[in-house]
Amino acid sequence: MPPTTTPWWRSAVIYQVYIRSFADGNGDGVGDIAGIRSRLPYLKSLGVDALWINPWYTSPQADHGYDVADYREIDPLFGTVAEAEQLIEEAHAHGIRIIPDIVPNHSSDQAAWFQQALTAGPGSPERERYVFRAGRGPDGSLPPNDWDSRFGGPAWTRVPDGEWYLHLFTPQQPDLNWQHPEVHAEFESVLRFWFDRGVDGFRIDVAHGLVKDPELPDLADRDGGAHPFWDRDEVHEIYRSWRKLADEYPGDRSFVAEAWTDTPERLAAYVREDGLHTAFNFDFLMTDWDAKDLRAVIDDTLAMLGTVGAPATWVMSNHDVMRHASRYGRRAAKKWLANESYVPASPADLELGTRRARAAALLTLALPGGAYVYQGEELGLPEIEDLPEAVLQDPVWERSGHTERGRDGCRVPIPWSGTTTPYGFSAADATASPWLPQPADWAPRTVAAQTGDPASMLELYRTALRIRREHPALGDGTLTWLDDTPAGVLAFRREPGFICVVNLSTEPYQLPAHASILLTSGPVEDNRLAPDQAVWLTV
Ligand code: GLC
Repeated sequence: MPPTTTPWWRSAVIYQVYIRSFADGNGDGVGDIAGIRSRLPYLKSLGVDALWINPWYTSPQADHGYDVADYREIDPLFGTVAEAEQLIEEAHAHGIRIIPDIVPNHSSDQAAWFQQALTAGPGSPERERYVFRAGRGPDGSLPPNDWDSRFGGPAWTRVPDGEWYLHLFTPQQPDLNWQHPEVHAEFESVLRFWFDRGVDGFRIDVAHGLVKDPELPDLADRDGGAHPFWDRDEVHEIYRSWRKLADEYPGDRSFVAEAWTDTPERLAAYVREDGLHTAFNFDFLMTDWDAKDLRAVIDDTLAMLGTVGAPATWVMSNHDVMRHASRYGRRAAKKWLANESYVPASPADLELGTRRARAAALLTLALPGGAYVYQGEELGLPEIEDLPEAVLQDPVWERSGHTERGRDGCRVPIPWSGTTTPYGFSAADATASPWLPQPADWAPRTVAAQTGDPASMLELYRTALRIRREHPALGDGTLTWLDDTPAGVLAFRREPGFICVVNLSTEPYQLPAHASILLTSGPVEDNRLAPDQAVWLTV
């Protein structure tokens, strides 16, 4: 890739490819590398700078690839290492960077290391690479402590010889022991394996969870000090070392952390000159469609990241949360938390949600820093909330005892063309249907149907991304709020000569003086911006 003066990751628009659901090249109903390669021209014409690709490594798919059995192989479901190399080369030829996902907190229970640990037995060096412990109670039949797994049930599973192992996620995802030097060495070698093949960075899964309190104390005994497994200060040592490693490679390789922290201050600790480059801004993702709350989260983010000189990232959707067209189509769901409850209290008003999603796209793409686009959000896809129970695949569904439907509703294979399933996701003569069923009413949502329609979500994104690339005020930098706006209206200026206005109130808003309208999320009449609309102006 050509060298740039400002590192690319400070202002990049990164498109998230959930590989299972993006494009199916071999007709087995599951997306793959061949599918991504065939769609590079689309991604180029959309105008994104990089792709973050969800885990593609060899995996029994207990958590759709987040249970990695071999970090140096591609799962046959998705392709081969040679195809990954071709993808990297072809993407680079299109000016698009590639960022795979790395999963360091846990491996698959089918990984060679874990299988060796099982065979070698209690007290062996092989067990030291994971977190094995004796149980509690006279016969050790109770878990070693009171930690729960993120997907329901205890975070411990007992093996036949009587020991227990820790898994913060499913039992098929045993946690690695990051107090062990071999674990550090192994992951540095894996990073090199892929950097040597030309990847431009990594998205780090559960970046805040790697180091556990070695005493493994009960959560019930926590007295306000550090959490025994989330966001412990010791994780930063790991990332300092990863940063040095990345800096040895040419071309601004970069990391993005999936780190859920309690405060923006804690998040800022991940992104320093000697640490990771960027982190997902989940506070923004979790904020309702409310002007005061959004402004507060934007200000807090920019202030905190400013103290460490890191750029912000703006994220509205990903493969773990309800799609934002559906989220914004609900009455303010205050306390809406990702990963907490997937049971919506009321049906979504999709017309409203879509209007807001259009305005939100203009908001996020105008804010200082980088932005993420989750595949399908550029098509305005909603959450699919009525998938039949029989097709649900997310482990959350089983682990929660069928009380939470899980994350399948945002992972439905995306529609490319045609009027019936598989909507071009797989070829018409494919041997299998898409791995999750697509809705019958998606014909108007396909890429083909939206292309060239100026009123479509797709063309809004295309135009916004083109203007963002060309306009010197957008991307990295700062903003200044226009403070003479009524409550419910967000307006900010970026230099040179750019204003973004978003109307989150219930009244039309008279636009400030401007030279021209660059882009609007909906029609503007008599210079009045209707509720739930946004506009980009030049001044
Ligand atoms: C992250 C991923 C999620 C996965 C979990 C366990 O939160 O985004 O999809 O289930 O980690 O690896």
